[in-house]
Amino acid sequence: MIYLDNAATSFIKPEGVVKAVCETTYKNSANAGRGGYSAAIKSSEILYETREKLARVFGINNPERIVFCKNTTEALNFGIKGVMHKGGHIITTSMEHNSVIRPIKALEQNGVFCFVLQGDKDGNIDVEKLEKMIKPQTKMIIMTHSSNVCGNIYNIEKAAEIAHKHRVLFMVDAAQSAGSIPVFAKNIDLLAFPGHKGLLGPMGTGGLYVREGVNIKPLTEGGTGSLSESLLQPDFFPDMLESGTQNVPAIAGLGAACDFLLKNGIQNIHNYEKELRERFEEKVLNMENIKVYGGNHKTAITAMNIKGADCIEVAQRLADDYGICVRSGLHCAILAHKTLGIQNTGCVRFSFGYFNTPKEIDAAADAVYKISKDLQKCQN
Ligand SMILES: Cc1ncc(COP(=O)(O)O)c(C=O)c1O
Repeated sequence: MIYLDNAATSFIKPEGVVKAVCETTYKNSANAGRGGYSAAIKSSEILYETREKLARVFGINNPERIVFCKNTTEALNFGIKGVMHKGGHIITTSMEHNSVIRPIKALEQNGVFCFVLQGDKDGNIDVEKLEKMIKPQTKMIIMTHSSNVCGNIYNIEKAAEIAHKHRVLFMVDAAQSAGSIPVFAKNIDLLAFPGHKGLLGPMGTGGLYVREGVNIKPLTEGGTGSLSESLLQPDFFPDMLESGTQNVPAIAGLGAACDFLLKNGIQNIHNYEKELRERFEEKVLNMENIKVYGGNHKTAITAMNIKGADCIEVAQRLADDYGICVRSGLHCAILAHKTLGIQNTGCVRFSFGYFNTPKEIDAAADAVYKISKDLQKCQN
């Protein structure tokens, strides 16, 4: 199998991650914060240590402001719904995943107003335009750091500057950037991230960073293990947003993944993945009938179509005939597909990872070539 679907979830995981999950499950499956015996204390330590490592990855001063979630979607829901209130305006972009758009649409039923900054046909977002969209009622700007459809990387630094100039909260969806390109939380008020994609941790992990001073309410209550004398949810972090038993083995794996990233350097990882993407794109762009979507400043994603071919069929042939795993069709981001003009066709998405090799890239490009020639023959 050649796995080129790392934007969905990363695979392979570093050896240390698998070891940490297995060892924690086997030797230390006690509940964190629930007992004074050593296994329970060890579980609490695992949570604490992983929080600290994540803080190092994102340049966060206070690890306690990082809340574990089961994925980015949960973190985005916690952030958006925890902060927005009736009458408030939220600004977002046309390149968002439905994990951003759907919670906002749900809030529109409760009197929240949404405004969408449109990207251009290559999926670029001119963040300078955000400034004119801000009104006195604007509470939050939320945008993705990088498109999951075409891989474009957006200027979140400039967007943060504009938001803060107008005292508007700035939230980032780092689903496609965390671990794949350096992400610094310094000017971000709310940062939602997955543990299972670029950070190379296990599925079922993710998190939300909430900057000190941001007023947020919990969406779930109870089961914190702390403040048992109280009928109410604790008002301190991380307990306020972390209800119920945590996935300690997976979080141990996420901690080991952070060790791997800190040791290898996210910039180095990005450079390597970029080399792979460029190698692939150089090859496919030399073929006659290939269309690649997006701009030049990208993560390790190549979104493409073989002209005239059904993207689902192409992906199926890649899987069946060549053992190559990619995503095809619509990728949970219909506004982004509309922006790129591929809402009716979808596209084939190749997403490369740190454990892919140049040989695999060449095999994938070769497979695309053969499939396109085959399909051409069928059309003639
Ligand atoms: C940009 C973006 N946002 C949000 C999500 C949702 O992430 P998760 O699967 O971790 O909930 C994804 C998943 O692919 C994504 O690419």
